[in-house]
Amino acid sequence: GATRDLAGVTVAVSAGGTREPIDPVRFLGNRSSGRQGVALARAAADRGATVLLAAANVEHAVLDAARVPGVEVVEVGSTAELAEAMEGFAARADVIVMAAAVADFRVASVSDGKLTKEDGGIPTLQLTENPDILAGLVRSRREGQLIVGFAAETASGGELLERGRRKRSRKGADLLAVNEVGWTAGFETSDNHLVILGSEGAIVGDVAGSKRETADGLLDAVVRALRPPAR
Ligand code: C5P
Repeated sequence: GATRDLAGVTVAVSAGGTREPIDPVRFLGNRSSGRQGVALARAAADRGATVLLAAANVEHAVLDAARVPGVEVVEVGSTAELAEAMEGFAARADVIVMAAAVADFRVASVSDGKLTKEDGGIPTLQLTENPDILAGLVRSRREGQLIVGFAAETASGGELLERGRRKRSRKGADLLAVNEVGWTAGFETSDNHLVILGSEGAIVGDVAGSKRETADGLLDAVVRALRPPAR
């Protein structure tokens, strides 16, 4: 179906996973492929949105799906770079979806040279906390801007929902898509299951299927939140 229900709406999306440098050749990263965020960007564009996509370390074979008219792509590496890109997008966006897996910690002092065994001993990596991009975007949100977070959790059932509810209210997101992940679920896979939480932690969507299908399910919840039914 060619629903153009996001025509005139600017949607900023983050996809992929950030990488924090250790030295010039190594990083701390995560297994996010960027498929869900890229599917969201593509689905939003197909529904008529102007899309601003910040892609953190997304393989080009995956990212190509979002290289269509109406999508502006910025490629980033670290959390600091992702924060800068999203803060720039936020000035123009009506909707922000933080689908990227963002590193909670970065290496406190990145080595100028490659760490080697010749340095002697076993290196210790001192970590420091990254700012929470989503929480920062919520604090500086524009009037009427809708902000959507993700929660990838290695829990299930009621515990998964409880963590999602706590996370949504802690971060102040309007909607939070809860996503069970594990060794064999969520990341790098083609199928997904999202439970979408709204205000007061109510379940406002529950979608399973391909990442394109779950993207459209989440965008349905976004459209409902943007245009509450007349009463
Ligand atoms: O707390 P947790 O990392 O599970 O929260 C996930 C949500 O917060 C995602 O939407 C993610 O993009 C966002 N996030 C962020 N900045 C961080 C950590 C997470 O924007 N430093």
